[in-house]
Amino acid sequence: MASVRVSYSSIACAPPSEVIASIIKASEVRNASNACSGLLGWSEWRYLQIIEGDSSRVNSIYKLIENDPRHNIEWCIEQDVKHRSIVPSLPMGYLDSSEFPEILKFHVEHDPLLLVNHLISCGAKKYPSSISAAYLSFSGEIKYI
Ligand SMILES: Cc1cc2nc3c(=O)[nH]c(=O)nc-3n(C[C@H](O)[C@H](O)[C@H](O)COP(=O)(O)O)c2cc1C
Repeated sequence: MASVRVSYSSIACAPPSEVIASIIKASEVRNASNACSGLLGWSEWRYLQIIEGDSSRVNSIYKLIENDPRHNIEWCIEQDVKHRSIVPSLPMGYLDSSEFPEILKFHVEHDPLLLVNHLISCGAKKYPSSISAAYLSFSGEIKYI
């Protein structure tokens, strides 16, 4: 089955730190039930997300995200992929900006694909395939299960 990778960047309307836990929670459930995997990165003013999976499923999730009033999408890239880079067992991986600082600062507006590749490589290091899920705890730490 054809897989796609949709990546986008958006500007947050409310501070991500206030809404990130509920976004992750809702996303994990819906992404998992659609066999999609994802990585979400955020800084104090911006989101970056990659979602991989079956084309129609990824696109229907993206439509929800696009209409979410908590952010405004800046750019979006859709790529056909032979192999998914984010393990299917990770419906919603999470990275904060400290994990991709330079790229975030310098390339976010100018080189989206470089940014996407960097986000994937951060995620791949952080979430080896043995980890089935990650979530944000109330203390702000990432927990693995
Ligand atoms: C930055 C950002 C990323 C999101 N990523 C996802 C996602 O990967 N999957 C998902 O189902 N919802 C995601 N959402 C939430 C959706 O936009 C939408 O609010 C949610 O799916 C609605 O869930 P509900 O019907 O349970 O309220 C994201 C929202 C934001 C602001």
